[in-house]
Amino acid sequence: MTEEQLIKSKKRVQQHGEVFTPKKIVNLMLDQEELQENLRDLSSTFLEPSAGEGAFLTEILRRKLKIARQISASRDKYDENALIALSSLYGIELLEDNVELLVMNMIITFSNEYTRVAMAEFTANADDVVIRHVIDSAKTIIRANMVQGNALTRLNDRGESLLFSEWQLLPIKRGVRKVQRILYTFDTILDQGDADVTVQIEQPAYEAIDLFADLFEDDEPKQREAETPLVKYVPVKLTEVYKELVEAVGE
Ligand SMILES: C[S@@+](CC[C@H](N)C(=O)[O-])C[C@H]1O[C@@H](n2cnc3c(N)ncnc32)[C@H](O)[C@@H]1O
Repeated sequence: MTEEQLIKSKKRVQQHGEVFTPKKIVNLMLDQEELQENLRDLSSTFLEPSAGEGAFLTEILRRKLKIARQISASRDKYDENALIALSSLYGIELLEDNVELLVMNMIITFSNEYTRVAMAEFTANADDVVIRHVIDSAKTIIRANMVQGNALTRLNDRGESLLFSEWQLLPIKRGVRKVQRILYTFDTILDQGDADVTVQIEQPAYEAIDLFADLFEDDEPKQREAETPLVKYVPVKLTEVYKELVEAVGE
């Protein structure tokens, strides 16, 4: 959708309040003084509960990627910081076609900006394998963080709880920084009494059960609970999150 096309149809405006924000207004709003500290902090979390096609999230991503470039003295650091910036951005959108565009717009924004800087300022070349890994990891993060659902009922179109990933940075060990992906339902996050998705919550692993629901479609609900293995993501470097490595932690 171009800047000028702010509505798709009258019906969608009436039914879903779907009116997109022009770029100029997005920029004016993001220029507000009180947002600057958070925009400069790569890990500072932003959640857009009615994200549309990503008017705000893509611009926040652009701004955070600029900061990632400014604070990175080497290519490795830039790869890591660009993904840290991306992993702090979350969106919920009700309409499936908007979610597809939201995901696509986030991927295009990240890929274009990251590749441009990596090639122009860190002399990476187009078929550089690390560029591919960074972009694949970015796609994994975006698909996990941009969620189809109703922010009010906290459910998606299949009636399931909205599921979010936290990308928790682990302390640097032997010069390597890894990230622990942790799954939380939106309910769990909000019911902590603070709508800040960076809130630290214990006992995350059981939330991953929903990921396996389809495998147990014919079982009785009780059996499903007992037989579903708990999963935990394996800590990996940020540039390897695309592998989505999991370990079973219980039967
Ligand atoms: C006014 S538009 C704003 C879109 C985007 N934030 C922007 O500024 O361009 C509102 C968006 O929220 C979505 N929406 C409406 N109700 C929602 C709900 N309960 N949960 C999540 N998204 C919702 C609509 O589909 C629409 O894309």
